[in-house]
Amino acid sequence: MMNVAIMGYGTIGSGVAEILETNKEIIARNVGQEVALKYVLDLRNFPDSPVADKVIHDFSIIENDPEVQLVVETMGGLNPSYPFVKACLLAGKHVATSNKALVAAYGTELLKIAREKEVNFFFEASVGGGIPIIRPLYRCLMGEKILDITGILNGTTNFILTKMDKEGWAFDSALKEAQRLGYAERNPEADVEGHDTCRKLAILTAMATGKEVNYEDIYTEGITAISDVDFRYADKMGMSIKLFGASRVGRDEMVNAYVAPIMIDRRHPLYTVSDVYNGILVTGNMLGETMYYGSGAGKLPTASAVVADIIDAAKHVNRNVVMGWSSERQQIAPMEANEFRYFMRMAGRPEEHLDSLMDFGPEEAVTLEGMDEFAVITKPMLEADFQEASAGLDRLIKFIRVER
Ligand code: HSE
Repeated sequence: MMNVAIMGYGTIGSGVAEILETNKEIIARNVGQEVALKYVLDLRNFPDSPVADKVIHDFSIIENDPEVQLVVETMGGLNPSYPFVKACLLAGKHVATSNKALVAAYGTELLKIAREKEVNFFFEASVGGGIPIIRPLYRCLMGEKILDITGILNGTTNFILTKMDKEGWAFDSALKEAQRLGYAERNPEADVEGHDTCRKLAILTAMATGKEVNYEDIYTEGITAISDVDFRYADKMGMSIKLFGASRVGRDEMVNAYVAPIMIDRRHPLYTVSDVYNGILVTGNMLGETMYYGSGAGKLPTASAVVADIIDAAKHVNRNVVMGWSSERQQIAPMEANEFRYFMRMAGRPEEHLDSLMDFGPEEAVTLEGMDEFAVITKPMLEADFQEASAGLDRLIKFIRVER
C-alpha cells in the first residue's frame, strides 16, 4: 500500500480525496497496489466530511512520516506551498500540484531538487485543468521541435466571454457565476487580468523549449476592457473574441509570446472552444498541428489530472522521470515584435474618416445601427508599427488584435 497526503482541502483537494475513494480500484489496478489517503493538511477542520479523521494542522507530521511517499499540493499561492513542497521533495517524497503560480515561480528549483532526490515533481493539473497537455509535451511529442503553442488557457475568462458573446450577460454577473461554479481564482483579478493565463503559458513554453521562462517577460493583457459593443461588431463580422496565450518560436530561437484578447473568425480551430472549456493548439515541426480540448477548470476535472500524476509517481517510485526544463533562461521577444491585424473602432462616420486610415490598409468599414462610430480591420502589421501609426489618431476609440 502507498500513502498519500493532501495539503489544502479546498475545491481541488477535496476533489482529489473524492477520486481516490471513488476510483480506488482503478487506481490500485494501474499502480499495482492500493493508494490510501493518510492525511489532509488544512487550517480548518471538516467534521462532517469523509476525511474528518485524517485532518491535521501540522505540516511536520507529513514531512517526518516515512510512510507518506506521495504528496498532493492544492493550497494555491506561494506561501506556504513553496516551503512545504520544497521540504517534501527534500524529504524524498513525490509531489503532484495543481498550482501554476508555484510552478511558474519556482518550477526550475523544484524540478532540480526532484532530479537530485530521484523523486518526481509533477504538475499536469497546473495547465488546462483536466486536459492532458503537460504529459503529451514530454511523452507523445518528445521527438518534436515545438514551433507554436496557442491556447485558451483560462476557464473563467472563457466562461465570461462566452456568456457575454452568446447570451448578452454583463461581465460582473458572468464572473460571479464562474466563482459560484468553483472556476475562478481566490482573487479573480488573476483570471480577468490575464495573469493566470500568463503563468500557464510560461509553463507550456518552458516545457516546449526546455528552458526556464520568466513569466514577467510575457506581455499580458486581460479582458476587462472588452465590452458588449465589441461583441456586436464581432458578431456582425462573423468573429468572436477569446483570451489567447500564445508562444511562437522564431527563426533565431527567440520566442514571441503574449497574452491578450484576440478576435478570431469562424474558421479558427479555437473558435468553438466555449464556456469553461480550454483548447490548446500545438504545432510540431514534423507532426504539424494538434489540438487538446477539455474542461479547463473545476473540481473533478482538475483533480483527475492530479490523481493521474499521483499514479505516475507511484509507478516510478524509485526514479525521476526526465521532464521539465533547465535553469538556462529562454529569451522572450518584446510585444512590439509581434505581428497582428487590428480591429479598430473609430468615432464618426466612415465616409468622413476612412482617408485617415489609408496607412493601415483597412478592409471594408462596418457600422452598428444607432452608433456614431465604425470599425475596420487593418492589414497585418508589426505591433511597433501599429502603435506608432495609431498614436496620432484622436478618433480611435479602441483596438483589439486580430489573429492573422
Ligand atoms: N482560475 C483558473 C481558470 C482555474 O479559470 O482557468 C484553473 O486553472
